[in-house]
Amino acid sequence: MRRVVCLLGSARPRGNSAVMAGAVCRGAAEAGAQVETFALNALDFRGCQGCMACKKKAEACVLDDGLTPVLRAVAGCDALVLATPVYFGEVSSQLKAFIDRTYSFLTPDYALNRAHRTRLTPGKTLCFVIAQGHPREDLFADIFPRYAYFFNWLGFTENRLLRACRIYHPGDAEARAGLLEQAAALGRDVALGQGEPDWLPPVRS
Ligand SMILES: Cc1cc2nc3c(=O)[nH]c(=O)nc-3n(C[C@H](O)[C@H](O)[C@H](O)COP(=O)(O)O)c2cc1C
Repeated sequence: MRRVVCLLGSARPRGNSAVMAGAVCRGAAEAGAQVETFALNALDFRGCQGCMACKKKAEACVLDDGLTPVLRAVAGCDALVLATPVYFGEVSSQLKAFIDRTYSFLTPDYALNRAHRTRLTPGKTLCFVIAQGHPREDLFADIFPRYAYFFNWLGFTENRLLRACRIYHPGDAEARAGLLEQAAALGRDVALGQGEPDWLPPVRS
């Protein structure tokens, strides 16, 4: 059974990105996946301290806080769903703080040894879910490829994206025709391991 971990990056428990991610997770569960969801905003945690302990003396992040079980769950998952609103052209600060803490998944020689970058088992799927208020699809389109590039280093070699633009007020995601059906279909794909093969350009060392 595929294990899917979903992280909600918005402070709105029933906001647009949470609703979209919820539909992805329902689709995944219906297809037989085991799904675990964490609302990052409800957790007490800090961003990466840049202490380098995970490179010098430990195999994992040495911070012991609300994100510790989340990092453990992500390390053991087959697919990771990251849901976020667009905030000032970026992911939410809650999600960014999690992403920075995944630095602990990189090996000490990640920068020099491409074949041995990650402490995680490769072959995982990354599924980004993005709710964007602005209607223009060309704006903020860089968010997904930028993070997919780094998650590729961590062993997320398949990438999927659900992005909805002109989604601003709570309720907009539910009102968008076909969006939640699309999300559920994506969840079924993720549960069955039918991600898209890594389309990213080769990483230069
Ligand atoms: C602090 C803040 C910053 C935002 N910045 C952007 C932005 O840069 N671009 C954009 O398209 N929408 C922006 N929005 C709108 C949100 O992306 C939009 O309302 C989204 O649907 C919220 O998702 P949520 O309900 O999951 O939180 C911003 C909203 C807030 C509150």
